[in-house]
Amino acid sequence: MAGTFYGIGVGPGDPELLTMKAVKALQKVDIIIAPRTEKKDGSVALDIARPYLKETVRIVYQVFPMVKEFEKDTVAWEENKKEILGFLNEGKNVAFLTLGDAMFYSTYIYVFRRLRQENVTIETIPGIPAFIAMGSHLGWPLVEGNDVLSVIPATAGVEKVRQVMEVSDNVVLMKVYKNFPEIAGLLEEKGMLDASVMVSRCGLPDEERIDDIAARKAQPVNYLSTILARRRAQ
Ligand SMILES: C[S@@+](CC[C@H](N)C(=O)[O-])C[C@H]1O[C@@H](n2cnc3c(N)ncnc32)[C@H](O)[C@@H]1O
Repeated sequence: MAGTFYGIGVGPGDPELLTMKAVKALQKVDIIIAPRTEKKDGSVALDIARPYLKETVRIVYQVFPMVKEFEKDTVAWEENKKEILGFLNEGKNVAFLTLGDAMFYSTYIYVFRRLRQENVTIETIPGIPAFIAMGSHLGWPLVEGNDVLSVIPATAGVEKVRQVMEVSDNVVLMKVYKNFPEIAGLLEEKGMLDASVMVSRCGLPDEERIDDIAARKAQPVNYLSTILARRRAQ
């Protein structure tokens, strides 16, 4: 019998934030596909899940081309898919781990789409995204009443980020590492700087909370950093 392919969201960092379902699935997994990417979020996900892995689990590293190049570079994705299908046909259960949630800005989505075209049993298990964990962790209500919360990838371009900020009560800014000074500038322009906070590596042993975002403008920001901001102070 063919194995099952699991897409497992492991949450942002604290291994206790995995769901029961994720932990149960991990105990059935024979092979974990770990992306060999420069950003290393795949290996962070693996470290978070490590307490729940079977001793005999095999880690298989695959190269996932930049998602931007997805249409151009289909060869590597096809090869990865073939390798995964081989394992499944041998009856092995295979998992792809993602930080936070599996269906939320994740490489898993691209793997999932390819495998869905085949006759594969897929189970996707949700995880807690970093910004949701941050709300509880910081005691920072994310939305209430009729508040509109927008989740914005800072990589979407300054003009688009500005427009979304204008129509939102509260915002979550993800992927802020690339253009952090511009994002800090926009928060200031929209009067949200005083009611904003950034967390880098939430839930991981080297987590950092940054309250004075403007003061950090000139310094590099960790890839795993998220900003919460609101229009009205609480
Ligand atoms: C490619 S997205 C992955 C999102 C992930 N699937 C999720 O549900 O949170 C990467 C971005 O997620 C955010 N992120 C993920 N883990 C984080 C953490 N532990 N602390 C802070 N931000 C995190 C950062 O904004 C980072 O740039």
